[in-house]
Amino acid sequence: MNPENPHPGALIVIEGIDGSGSTTQSDMLLQWLQRVGIPSTFTREPSKGPIGGVLRLHIGKRLELAGPPAEALAFAADRMDHLNSEIAPALARGITVVADRYYLSSLAYQALACDLGWLREINRFALRPDLTVLLSVPVDVGVARFSSRPTRERFEENRGELARIAEMYDAAIARLREEGEDVRVIDGTRSPSDVHAEVVRLAAGALQPRYPGLSIPQDAYEGSSVRPTVPTA
Ligand code: TYD
Repeated sequence: MNPENPHPGALIVIEGIDGSGSTTQSDMLLQWLQRVGIPSTFTREPSKGPIGGVLRLHIGKRLELAGPPAEALAFAADRMDHLNSEIAPALARGITVVADRYYLSSLAYQALACDLGWLREINRFALRPDLTVLLSVPVDVGVARFSSRPTRERFEENRGELARIAEMYDAAIARLREEGEDVRVIDGTRSPSDVHAEVVRLAAGALQPRYPGLSIPQDAYEGSSVRPTVPTA
């Protein structure tokens, strides 16, 4: 089990296969948090740090990390660098961090070629999120969304691979839940605002111990000027 977050700020992770809308939903959640007055920030993995830079080149196929274990170790190293340089300092200041991908991505994508137990091991120092939300979309929906983008990245090569990544997500989530981690799976095929409403309900539930006065909205847009700014497809 990964160490519990000891900080006043909460760590909320949004996950999903390529094309699931995790970046859109992370952005919308951040806007909602700021709207209701919860100090918050957005981050993503691969990070903006030095190892994240190498990983972006690898993902963009402009550089090749030799072999799946090297790739998995690079993601784990980036995660620790990201955690220590950016995430934990923010959490320690009471800032809620919304992360677009975190170790669950490694337990899914790198599990195509590496053993899940080993992946858990190399990620075991990463703080456990207070909440992870997986946006579940059928593989064809994910493929259709990223196929409209101009270039294909490393993990966007084929439908079969994405289908296996989706299966790996399910296996990893089962494992994390057995260990008591809070991982929620929601239907990511609905409109961005409907998905957002559910993400907000889950996030508000996770944040209530820290913010007892926070009400859980039935409709995320009720009385709110928050609107989606990034299209999903
Ligand atoms: P990115 O362009 O950020 O994709 P997205 O907008 O879908 O998040 O690239 C991230 C890619 O890296 C994505 O295909 C998933 C992959 N990835 C891993 O394979 N392992 C990991 O641990 C992480 C964080 C990402």
